[in-house]
Amino acid sequence: MSTSQSRPVVLITGATGFIASHTIIQLLEEGYDVVGIDNLANSKKAVINRITALSDRSIIFRPVDIRDEKALDELFTVYPINSVIHFAGYKAVGESVEDPMLYYSNNMKGTTILLEVMAKHGVKNLVFSSSCTVYGNAEQCPITEESPLQPGNPYGRTKWMIEHMLSDLAASDPEWHITSLRYFNPIGAHPSGEMGEDPSGIPNNLIPYITQVAIGKREKLYVFGGDYPTEDGTCIRDYIHVCDLAAGHIAALESLHGNGYEVINLGTGKGYSVLEVIRTFEKVSGVTIPYEIVDRREGDAVEVWADPTKAYKKLYWRALFDLERMCNDAWLWQLRNPEGYRSNELPFASSEDQFSLSTIIDHSTKITLRDTKTA
Ligand code: NAD
Ligand code: UFG
Repeated sequence: MSTSQSRPVVLITGATGFIASHTIIQLLEEGYDVVGIDNLANSKKAVINRITALSDRSIIFRPVDIRDEKALDELFTVYPINSVIHFAGYKAVGESVEDPMLYYSNNMKGTTILLEVMAKHGVKNLVFSSSCTVYGNAEQCPITEESPLQPGNPYGRTKWMIEHMLSDLAASDPEWHITSLRYFNPIGAHPSGEMGEDPSGIPNNLIPYITQVAIGKREKLYVFGGDYPTEDGTCIRDYIHVCDLAAGHIAALESLHGNGYEVINLGTGKGYSVLEVIRTFEKVSGVTIPYEIVDRREGDAVEVWADPTKAYKKLYWRALFDLERMCNDAWLWQLRNPEGYRSNELPFASSEDQFSLSTIIDHSTKITLRDTKTA
């Protein structure tokens, strides 16, 4: 299909990651063109092939690190990018405690460089991946955007500091439109079973661990703490389907222009205990999950669930998928991809082969990526 109308071009950082890849599918469905970058520190390039297969559209992908100012500068020079969704960053809480400078350098420095390059090119529309981890061990649930911020680890503090940086930036220049989305616990997978979460090594998070137990890769689940002050003694979280989260990004992107700086929770507004998650997973999969209750995990908050009212009021967005659907889709992904994405998957010509936009983009007319592909 060729169109003379310009489509909005969005730069996605961390494009091959779990949440970004699901968001890209929806952006393509909504008619956006996408330039994706990732340094592949925590993801595989095969994701791009899955995106192409599922959406029947291509994206531009470049293996770029957000700390590489020169490479970013080139991207903004070559492609007619008009907004950015910034997912790239490290996210493992434990690792951030052991090696905080890795987190301050990658998350903080990376974001600073990205913002400087955006400003240089006059691109001032940004959606940022923040986290409910900025609330720490909240005193009260549901958590609103006004709840106190007390991140309990270096990873959370990078998100908290970046949020301050973004707020200061928007206050200093009314041309900036920025929304920080504070995600609660993203789980699930694309309903096709072709895209999902692909942790390297032993999963840190509950659902990937459960699916690996279910498929026989791990013997049993260790439930961290059974003596919390909750109904069944296990911690409570607000699990949100990754496709609902993806839709929240499109809604945020489309409402950027009304804002200077906004902070919005993306959660379902419902909390489930670890044991409830296990039981729901067993029900939808028909597989029994052996588990053992062990000591509490250091740093875990007892109860975390969102008040998503602001997301509905500002973005007309709310989560649609329930916990059963989240477990079902995560299980389908695990069943179809027992080893996750394979690094040697190349069913399509790579997107670099399909496009050589540095030579074919015409800046004077701002031809869109889609147009150039079919031109
Ligand atoms: P992910 O690790 O799957 O995706 C992040 C991607 O960023 C990875 O593909 C990684 O290779 C890439 N990356 C890291 N550093 C980079 C750099 N310097 N340059 C380029 N690419 C880089 O994680 P995700 O779960 O998809 O999370 C996406 C974002 O959402 C992160 O910022 C994370 O902190 C945030 N977040 C995640 C969760 C969660 O539980 N998954 C919750 C709240 C917030
Ligand atoms: N849990 C277990 N056993 C496991 C893994 C987790 O019992 O093997 C428990 C945890 O103790 C917690 C719950 O399952 O009670 C959820 O744990 P996750 O690790 O899946 O999620 P967290 O709430 O700890 O944190 C995640 C990300 C953070 C992010 C946060 C909010 O790891 O980076 O969600 O989005 F900030």
